[in-house]
Amino acid sequence: MEGAMEHAATPAWALLAYLVSGVLFILALRGLSSPSTSQRGNRFGMIGMAIAVVTTLVTHVPSRQYYAHIPPDGSPFFGPDFAGIAEILAAIALGGAIGLVTARRIKMTDMPQLVAAFHSLVGMAAVLVGWAAYLNPTAFGIAGADGVIEAQSRIEMGLGIAIGAITFSGSVIAFLKLAGKMSGAPIMLPGRHVINLGTLAAIIGLTGYFTMDQSLWVIAVVTALSFLIGFLLIIPIGGADMPVVVSMLNSYSGWAAAAMGFTLHNTAMIITGALVGSSGVILSYIMCKAMNRSFISVIAGGFGAVADAGGEAKEQRPWKRGSAEDAAFLLGEAEQVIIIPGYGMAVAQAQHVLREMGDQLKARGVRVKYAIHPVAGRMPGHMNVLLAEAQVPYDDVFELEDINGEFAQTDVAFIIGANDVVNPAAKTDKSSPIYGMPVFDVEKAKSIMFIKRSMGGVGYAGVDNDVFYMDQTMMLLADAKKMVEDINKALAH
Ligand code: TAP
Repeated sequence: MEGAMEHAATPAWALLAYLVSGVLFILALRGLSSPSTSQRGNRFGMIGMAIAVVTTLVTHVPSRQYYAHIPPDGSPFFGPDFAGIAEILAAIALGGAIGLVTARRIKMTDMPQLVAAFHSLVGMAAVLVGWAAYLNPTAFGIAGADGVIEAQSRIEMGLGIAIGAITFSGSVIAFLKLAGKMSGAPIMLPGRHVINLGTLAAIIGLTGYFTMDQSLWVIAVVTALSFLIGFLLIIPIGGADMPVVVSMLNSYSGWAAAAMGFTLHNTAMIITGALVGSSGVILSYIMCKAMNRSFISVIAGGFGAVADAGGEAKEQRPWKRGSAEDAAFLLGEAEQVIIIPGYGMAVAQAQHVLREMGDQLKARGVRVKYAIHPVAGRMPGHMNVLLAEAQVPYDDVFELEDINGEFAQTDVAFIIGANDVVNPAAKTDKSSPIYGMPVFDVEKAKSIMFIKRSMGGVGYAGVDNDVFYMDQTMMLLADAKKMVEDINKALAH
């Protein structure tokens, strides 16, 4: 019996250790829910992961003593074909070194594509584990000596490979789109919903058939179709819906890991995978709410996207340019300033000088608030992380729904590197790709300052913004960090 084998292979202390790491992961997620507790949350996660890895190594790596206990006719949980401790440590060292170098080198602005790339690795790992288990089931303890794989394991294997392959190809496309190596515009295939549904039905049908026939072709076709559907699901999702894709792939990678946990009989992996999977679903739901999109339509692919998302011709309209000195004068006279950071602040790394500006204004008695849109930047929590890094007090940071009512009583809406999240087209223009997304009501403020590098540049969704041309708007065209440094100098005089 497989169950009996599992218990024989995983001692009670190890199950307890897995439970402890599971609890630590839950505490980690809880900690990560707020910027002030996120570092502690991360530490819980690291300790939990260390416990899980050491426990897995101690219990699962074959040792001479372990082999001595395997009955000659029984199938060991991990047989002699499983890698020994030396290979495993070498793999950990290699992977760890690559991870360390990448994490140290990566720029904050490149984080989203890095996350997508990491998700693709989780997906590929699930596919490889599934295939390893298929090719050598006895070594995984899921088949008798005759090589016939148990039905339950075949389902786990089929699902693990399918979810893993979808995660892999979907994440590769997301990586290419986020890294700008592929157009962010939606690519709409005719009849894509029929193709997607057909492919999905074929994957589910063949996984069911796999329980009756463990031929190589069945699992090979499941793998190929799953790679294909991952690709098909992500290509029609346009720029503005990318936040949902990032969190959805995060969720898929969790389910892929959980499926791997079943194949490997590893409780910690099942728990961790399920936690990542379900928190990813919750995050996707929150992202959908923030974008005012239906969850199902985004997953189905391309619903929310409008075909002509990019590069519409801009008409020549008058606009006003201001200098750092003009900005400093108006800011210094204000009673309340609301700062709206966006992706450009991350690119310019302007968060530290921005905090200094906030401090200078506060010293003059100006009320300064920071307003964060849930999809500002390129990844969930992007702006929160940057402002926290610059030690902006948490009490000064407000969510969209908590501050949107205040613009009418605000003297200056200070937009720094944000664009789509302040675009009123989201409220009025049904043909806009961001239509329906809640945005900041900056146009209600007495004056608006808009920092960006040029009038030609657009936001992520690739659309023009009426705010540039409003009477009360002063365009501050420069790199965000440079402009704020100059404003700081002018304020100090
Ligand atoms: P965006 O709409 O992308 O606008 C960025 C603005 O920053 C542009 O106006 C750009 O204009 C300016 N900029 C870029 N580099 C700059 C620099 N060095 N100095 C000054 N300005 C600079 O930003 P947003 O308002 O944060 O909106 C987020 C968008 O990204 C949404 O459409 C959202 O759906 C999408 N998105 C979000 C996520 C997540 S999870 N948050 C993930 C993927 C996509 P110039 O080029 O003229 O400087």
